[in-house]
Amino acid sequence: MAKVGLGVLASGRGSNLQAIIDNIEAGKLDAQVKVVISDKPTAYALERARTHGIPGIYVNPGQFSGKEEYEKAIVECLQENQVELVVLAGYMRLVGKVLLNSYSNRLMNIHPALLPSFPGAHGQRDAVEYGVRFSGCTVHFVDEGMDTGPIILQAVLPVLQDDDEDTLAARILQEEHKIYSQAIQLYAEERLKVEGRKVRIV
Ligand code: GRF
Repeated sequence: MAKVGLGVLASGRGSNLQAIIDNIEAGKLDAQVKVVISDKPTAYALERARTHGIPGIYVNPGQFSGKEEYEKAIVECLQENQVELVVLAGYMRLVGKVLLNSYSNRLMNIHPALLPSFPGAHGQRDAVEYGVRFSGCTVHFVDEGMDTGPIILQAVLPVLQDDDEDTLAARILQEEHKIYSQAIQLYAEERLKVEGRKVRIV
């Protein structure tokens, strides 16, 4: 099967990136990470990429006049590297129209809660504070909203009585590492059909 060219956008430690790389290297994912781009020069994700011979590129948002110019530079970099699918992995910025228009239905995100519950930057903490009995993670296509796009896959796990943000986040992360690659593999197999706000798996 032809390998899907991935461009990963990450702002931090990059454990989801690592899981994707590991699954590719284990032959479980028909994809190739073409480039990793970060808005943070010290993001550990960049180092992980370079360790595996993948270009790790820092694009400084501060050097552009605004979001559109910044995203144009990102799109240029993605296109130069033959990226077909953009994977957000701990990318801490709301995606704007330039990126969205260039990669419509070809942009995925992972969120550490069962959307539409607990969107935003503190999904695990918000779930613990609310007192829900179950939480999990969600892979979805990205639209203009914050964590609002069509849902591809979710994993559910119980919230334990004594969980705090960190213990819950650690258990959720293990599931993230599985379902993100599964969602990418479904894309690679052309099995994801977006119908309005729903994704049909064929
Ligand atoms: C993950 O919890 C992901 O769900 C969220 O940001 C975190 C990124 O972690 N979007 P990592 O950088 O992949 O380790």
